[in-house]
Amino acid sequence: PIDPEFEENREVVEQHDGHNVWGPVEEPETLGIHGTHVAVDFDICLADGACLEDCPVDVFEWVDTPGHPESDIKADPAHESQCIDCMLCVDVCPVDAIDVDPG
Ligand code: SF4
Ligand code: F3S
Ligand code: ZN
Repeated sequence: PIDPEFEENREVVEQHDGHNVWGPVEEPETLGIHGTHVAVDFDICLADGACLEDCPVDVFEWVDTPGHPESDIKADPAHESQCIDCMLCVDVCPVDAIDVDPG
C-alpha cells in the first residue's frame, strides 16, 4: 500500500500538471507518488479504474506510462483541489494505491 507518511519519507522531485511528484523517479520503471492532498502511488497503481469511475467530482484522469511493470496507464489526481474528502477512492482501490488526507 501507499505510505501514508510519504510527505515525511519522500521529497518532491518534479511537478506534473500543477501537482507534486514525490520521488524517487526513474522512468519508465519507477514513477513515484503523484499529488499531495489526493496522492496516488504510480508504482502500485495497476489501472483498475475504480477510482475514476467512483469519484463524484472527477479528480482523476488517465495518463500514459508505457514501460511501467504494473500497468501502462495510471490514475493521475489531475484535479486534486476539487476533492471533497468522501474517501470513496481510498476504499475502492484494490491495491491501496491512494491516500487522501482530509483537512
Ligand atoms: Fe474523489 Fe472522494 Fe477520492 Fe476525493 S476522496 S478524490 S472526492 S473519490
Ligand atoms: Fe489505480 Fe487503484 Fe485507481 S489501481 S486506477 S489507483 S482504483
Ligand atoms: Zn500527475
